[in-house]
Amino acid sequence: MLTRVGLIGLGYWGPNLVRCFNELEDCKVTAVCDKDPQRLTTITDRFPGTMPTDDADELFKSGKVDAVVVATPTTTHYDLASRAIAHGLHVFVEKPLATSSDECQRLIEQADAANRTLFVGHVFLHSAPVKKLKELINNGELGEVRYISSDRLNLGPVRHDVNALWDLAPHDISIILHLLGASPNSVSCSGSAYLTPGVHDVCNLTLHFDNKQMGIVNVSWLDPRKKRTLTVVGSQKMATYDDLEIEKIKIFDKGVDAPDYSTNFGEFQFSYRYGDTFSPRLKEVEPLKAECADFISSIRDCRQPLTDGVNGLQVVEVLEAAQQSLFENGQRITLNSPYCLKESATHA
Ligand SMILES: NC(=O)c1ccc[n+]([C@@H]2O[C@H](COP(=O)([O-])OP(=O)(O)OC[C@H]3O[C@@H](n4cnc5c(N)ncnc54)[C@H](O)[C@@H]3O)[C@@H](O)[C@H]2O)c1
Repeated sequence: MLTRVGLIGLGYWGPNLVRCFNELEDCKVTAVCDKDPQRLTTITDRFPGTMPTDDADELFKSGKVDAVVVATPTTTHYDLASRAIAHGLHVFVEKPLATSSDECQRLIEQADAANRTLFVGHVFLHSAPVKKLKELINNGELGEVRYISSDRLNLGPVRHDVNALWDLAPHDISIILHLLGASPNSVSCSGSAYLTPGVHDVCNLTLHFDNKQMGIVNVSWLDPRKKRTLTVVGSQKMATYDDLEIEKIKIFDKGVDAPDYSTNFGEFQFSYRYGDTFSPRLKEVEPLKAECADFISSIRDCRQPLTDGVNGLQVVEVLEAAQQSLFENGQRITLNSPYCLKESATHA
């Protein structure tokens, strides 16, 4: 059965989604919507037969779509997604799901009541490198996970409606929560705004989990070098993920073993392990295409997608607490929501 998709927002990211959905066998983008007529023309020239409109309501009421993808600026996500569900449509919302946990909860309840799929664009959870890291953690190869750190840096694109934390960190937060299988118990965040008053360009976020585990996230759109790296430090081995490399995952048989505690300095020596480095072969799948395929198959098979509304809410809860910490000069903010992921998967 063919799923007909309507896509709202044809800026930087939307056209990539149009291409990926149109490349799937069981799906077709039948309508597109943007306020900018030039952006509509670019898509209809490339995909003739696609209905163009500058009015989202016209798309919702057209009878030409079964599902809607919202790829507009973050502050518009809630309103557009809620109106799409009200018209009986399944919805894929780009990250972050909305601008508050309250909005996320309302979308989840609305989609549940209407029996519609609510999906969030946490694209990296559909990528082969993150799946490999999850496998390495779950099968115990890395030992107990101690901390995960990530850098997401680039020059632009600079946003006006949200800061670098809300724009860039959803990726890292979604990956870290997925890898640890847990939500943090508290977060702290610091940062600075240089270009637009009140809109932070650079942010440093620390997630504190039970069992002393940590996530450290560094994001900036004001950096000369593009950097997309993540490191998982385990008690047995360590792994790195560099999204700009051909060999994206590297596993290091490296570590430091501490002797039993002794007050005698002469006996208290750490032993360093410098073993081999290995880069596993990964399945070559475009993460965005895998994400689009998961959305379509979750609708067809009536199943919860990997990145569902609750997954979107869990990430927004962390962002909200981090934003509060940012306002309170890096104070540690406690998270205690019923939606928090509870189980910490060190390697079980
Ligand atoms: N998954 C990823 O890796 C990734 C990458 C980039 C952006 N994104 C997400 O995609 C979304 C869009 O980002 P972008 O960089 O493409 O933004 P953008 O500003 O380049 O484009 C947004 C487009 O939406 C249109 N628009 C805004 N309000 C509209 C409305 N009410 N009706 C119709 N059209 C409207 C604008 O005219 C514009 O063309 C954001 O949520 C962003 O976080 C995700």
